[in-house]
Amino acid sequence: MMKLRHSFVLLNCLFALLLVAGTAQAGNGGPDTIDLKEAFAVEGKKKTVIFPHKQHQQKFPCESCHVSSAGGDGMRVELQKKSGFKNDFHTKLCWPCHVEKKVPKGKSCSTCHK
Ligand code: HEC
Ligand code: HEC
Ligand code: HEC
Repeated sequence: MMKLRHSFVLLNCLFALLLVAGTAQAGNGGPDTIDLKEAFAVEGKKKTVIFPHKQHQQKFPCESCHVSSAGGDGMRVELQKKSGFKNDFHTKLCWPCHVEKKVPKGKSCSTCHK
C-alpha cells in the first residue's frame, strides 16, 4: 500500500515536470518586439530600433536569422561591429534581406529608428 502511494507521488512529480518543460517550450518564440539597442548594448545617438520580431517570424523560418531551426540560439551572422553607420546590423543582417525582399523603404532610417 505504502509503495503504491509512493509511486503515485513520483508519477505526479514527473507529470508536473513535463508540464513545466512543455510550457517553457511553447514560450520559446522569444519576445514580440525587441529593443535591439538594449539587447546588444549598442552605443550611439540614433533612435533605438524596436525590432518587430513576431512580424518577421510570421514571414520567415527561424533559421533565416538564428543558427538553429528552433530559434533563439544566437544569430547566423556575427554582430561584432555595433556602432557607426557601417555596423553589422546594417551590413550583415537587416539590410541584405530588406534589399533582397524589396521591402518598401527597407533602408530608410525612419523605418527602423524611431
Ligand atoms: C532595417 C533596419 C534599419 C534601417 C533601415 C536603418 N538602421 Fe541604423 N541600425 C539598425 C539596427 C538594428 C541598429 C543597432 C541597434 C540600435 O542602434 O538600436 C542600428 C544602428 C545604427 C547606428 C549605430 C548606433 C547609433 O545609435 O549610433 C547608426 C549610426 C545608424 N544605425 C544609422 C542609420 C541611418 C543613418 C539610417 C538611414 C540611412 C539607418 N541607420 C537605417 C537598423 C536599421
Ligand atoms: C528576421 C530575423 C529573425 C527571425 C526570422 C527570427 N528571429 Fe528570433 N531574434 C532575432 C533577433 C535580432 C533577436 C535578438 C537577439 C538577442 O536578443 O540576442 C531574436 C531573439 C530571439 C529570442 C530571445 C533571445 C535569445 O537568443 O534567446 C528567441 C527565443 C527567439 N529569437 C526565437 C525565435 C524563433 C523560435 C524564431 C522562429 C519562429 C525566430 N526567433 C525567428 C531575429 C529573428
Ligand atoms: C530574412 C529577411 C529579413 C531580415 C533578416 C530582416 N527583415 Fe525586416 N522585414 C523583412 C520583410 C520582408 C519586411 C516587410 C514585412 C511585411 O510586409 O510585413 C520587413 C519589415 C521590417 C520593418 C517594418 C515593419 C512595418 O510594419 O512597417 C522593420 C521595422 C524591420 N523590418 C526591421 C528589421 C530589423 C531591425 C532587422 C535586423 C535586426 C530586420 N528587419 C531584418 C525582412 C527581413
